[in-house]
Amino acid sequence: MASPIVHFSLLILSLLFVSCISEGKPRPFILPIAKDSKTNLFYTSLGLGTPRHHMDLVIDLGGPFLWYDCDKTYNSSSYHPVHCESKSCPGGAPCTGCTSGPFKPGCSNDTCGAFILNPYADAIFTGDFGEDVLFLSQSHTVLPGLISGCTSTEGSSLLNNLPQTGKGILGLARTQLALPTQLSLSRKLPRKFAICLPSSNKHGLGNLFIGGAPQDASKLTLFTTPLVVNPFSTAPIFSEGEPSYEYFIVVKSVKVDGGAINFKPSLLSIDNKGHGGTKISTINPFTAVHSAIFKPLVREFSKKAVDRKMRKVTPVAPFGACFDFSSIGRTVTGLDVPTIELELEGGVTWKVYGGNSMVLVNKKVACLGFVDGGKDAETSVVIGGHVLEDNLVEFDLVSSKLSFSSSLLLHNARCSHIRT
Ligand SMILES: *[C@@H]1O[C@H](CO)[C@@H](O)[C@H](O)[C@H]1NC(C)=O
Ligand SMILES: *[C@@H]1O[C@H](CO)[C@@H](O)[C@H](O)[C@H]1NC(C)=O
Repeated sequence: MASPIVHFSLLILSLLFVSCISEGKPRPFILPIAKDSKTNLFYTSLGLGTPRHHMDLVIDLGGPFLWYDCDKTYNSSSYHPVHCESKSCPGGAPCTGCTSGPFKPGCSNDTCGAFILNPYADAIFTGDFGEDVLFLSQSHTVLPGLISGCTSTEGSSLLNNLPQTGKGILGLARTQLALPTQLSLSRKLPRKFAICLPSSNKHGLGNLFIGGAPQDASKLTLFTTPLVVNPFSTAPIFSEGEPSYEYFIVVKSVKVDGGAINFKPSLLSIDNKGHGGTKISTINPFTAVHSAIFKPLVREFSKKAVDRKMRKVTPVAPFGACFDFSSIGRTVTGLDVPTIELELEGGVTWKVYGGNSMVLVNKKVACLGFVDGGKDAETSVVIGGHVLEDNLVEFDLVSSKLSFSSSLLLHNARCSHIRT
């Protein structure tokens, strides 16, 4: 017969087990997001490798994986290259070798090759996929076995136009190697993540939530529209027949203060080459629209602005409509300007208020922060970072939906207030 002590410890064990289960849903991982005022890009900070290397990485919704610069000063004793024949090695990846030695991240043989993409660089770099330890300080988490890419390419445009402290890019695209997918799989979290981008660092940092939107968000009304897959890749390098891993939504019409702007509606659908449609990008600071949309948008916005007694001034590049700052009123959602409405699939409208549409270019001039994407724009509407600021935006890859809060300023809140 078992002793009472054994019974007692079994009881405690089973209680512990039950309490672990009743803890309910695993909590999402949280990473901080800061805004770089010089480039208007957003970046997070995390730790990688042994010894721990602190890294600032630019957030790229359209990036296929996490990559960093493993230049000659970088080494890590916990690094393991991904072998060419490993099942973690994506199809179509080259096999790399390093004759110069000695072994380090970015210099190993029979390694699964990575194409390192910086959308601002003038080249595609070759690097390696490897596994290493990831530290997320805000979540007090150490995660072994994170697969990322690194390159030791020297004297190049590798880090072009990234924030000064930026060492690489955190890709969040719809791929197997994107950080949200890897974390969701290894930690049994739902395949969802949310971003809340700060409008500036003076109000505090924003966050990336991996595993779903935080509990705080349940107090907000979220608007939902389907995420669609563009069947044609929009990446600079891809395999034949590969769909785009970027996040597309369907904009059905664009209005300014209730008045529809006129352009060829086919620009808003994805054609048989994968051109057209609307995607979301954090690498574009400002929303870029096809010339055939930009011109009527600027015209309509200016007309409605003049109705509000805003005084037009000479436009400041790259913007198309600028106004005397002193002639613009204030509201809780920023400058009191005409509202831009994006009518989306699913019957919801994304209302873009002054705080997300206007850019103060100097003390006297505020401009409509939309730019001309050109008459050959591959994607007709690229919703950029400024429009996403102080909005909670969730990407749900389980049910293929995008949910957004609209401006948190309407609720007297900012991204820095959203916590788990
Ligand atoms: C990098 O670290 C590994 C393991 O600690 C070591 O074997 C290797 O020689 C180091 N490489 C360089 C270039 O210092
Ligand atoms: C890779 O293999 C080559 C040829 O065998 C060798 O010279 C080189 O040192 C190896 N590189 C590393 C990092 O082990």
